Amino acid sequence: MSNPIYKTMGQQFGRRSWAEPWKIKMVEPIRMISAEERLEACQDAGYNTFLMRSEDVYIDLLTDSGTSAMSDRQWAGIMMGDEAYAGSRNFYNLEAAVRKYYGYKYVIPTHQGRGAEHLISQATITKGDYIPGNMYFTTTRLHQELAGGTFVDVIIDEAHDPTNQHPFKGNVDLDKMKALVDKVGADRIPYVSLAGTVNMAGGQPVSMDNVKALRAFCDKHGLRIYLDATRMYENAFFIQEREEGYKDKSVAEILFEFCSYTDGAWMSAKKDHLVNIGGWLAVNQEDVAERARNLVVVYEGLHTYGGMAGRDMEALAIGIEEGVKDDHVAARVRQVRYLGKLLLDWGIPIMEPIGGHAIFVDARRFYEHIPQDQFPAQTLAAQLYLDSGVRSMERGIVSAGRDPKTGDHYYPALELTRLTIPRRVYTQAHMDVVAESLKALHDERKKTKGLKMVYEPEYLRFFQARFEPL
Ligand code: F0G
Repeated sequence: MSNPIYKTMGQQFGRRSWAEPWKIKMVEPIRMISAEERLEACQDAGYNTFLMRSEDVYIDLLTDSGTSAMSDRQWAGIMMGDEAYAGSRNFYNLEAAVRKYYGYKYVIPTHQGRGAEHLISQATITKGDYIPGNMYFTTTRLHQELAGGTFVDVIIDEAHDPTNQHPFKGNVDLDKMKALVDKVGADRIPYVSLAGTVNMAGGQPVSMDNVKALRAFCDKHGLRIYLDATRMYENAFFIQEREEGYKDKSVAEILFEFCSYTDGAWMSAKKDHLVNIGGWLAVNQEDVAERARNLVVVYEGLHTYGGMAGRDMEALAIGIEEGVKDDHVAARVRQVRYLGKLLLDWGIPIMEPIGGHAIFVDARRFYEHIPQDQFPAQTLAAQLYLDSGVRSMERGIVSAGRDPKTGDHYYPALELTRLTIPRRVYTQAHMDVVAESLKALHDERKKTKGLKMVYEPEYLRFFQARFEPL
């Protein structure tokens, strides 16, 4: 050990690290194209990372949705697909897994999360209704609006402050709930739209205490709670880590208890459930289930496949069990934290506390000199790609869209660039590359200029909008 090369390693002896509960059996080659090629790809894509070809991307942190690596068991499940039109065996496996881990009675498969959002919105919302929720999500709010509803944000104020260290920034503010009930009346509120780990708030969890209190409030006023369960596994992990009385409970036990305070859930299985496609809606009320089942055959497919192949449902049923395991969720969240801690150590402003599925760089503080209507978060996503071929996405003013009533941009408090970590896909070395690229951009930040929008689509504009540098 006299060789100085070993010194840093030597100084770390005695420390104990965690590691992923899997090893790699198959790899997919990736490469970084040249700086000139990256510039061309970025221009062709109108400075929008959604419009890039994935082959031009080196490390893809666009989303954790449908990008997970499946296990050998899930791939074996793919071979066990029962591709009958009706009553596929794989549907019953899926139904049993949802009932076992989430506890809901009626299970309706859909092709992905927004299919389920469409069904629950159409089945429960009438024109003029109000839907309170712990911060909006893009597709969720749009389906509520298309069904004639108005979304009302009832998340605690702390969630809108990227530096506030509240451990459960996804919590619902019951005073805001009460104010809404007093204003519009409980009859105009078909359900509370509650999300586990709030995506747009930086992957922030809801506490068990909060969902219990919300249940009591809703019982008093005769309101239902439907849960966006998309990343509830991560929410359950945070409860285990942070909330009194849950240290010795498993993620699965915490999930089950949490869901017991709600009336049903919709799910984008492309996240927690480790599959590339799939979703479901599950509710406890027979009348809602019946309405949703009537709609599923119109928009998705028969009520025993909902747009998925039999093999997709089998991989999903297996993913429900694999994804909820404590060691898996812990490794997943800790990898996200590893990246976040590197950035914090280097003084790069990120949304805190570090959330479950992604690091959200605070573009407002990163590019202090770029005004919000010159799209600082979109700018950072483009710059990160240009620097290192890393693909991220905007979660700020572009994602927020326009107010349908006034036609103005919504100006969200949070102007973030999301580095979303797929599950079981990248290593710690990939995280180092990402962090070092952001450090280089941060060092040069004052030289960077913003963007102007040159094309804007009508719906969910962030997917297809085009930009040019100012
Ligand atoms: N709810 C949440 C919280 C989500 O994050 C998503 C998708 C959906 C619902 C819709 O599900 O995509 O299966 O139709 N989020 C992806 C993302 C797109 O990148 O955050 P979907």
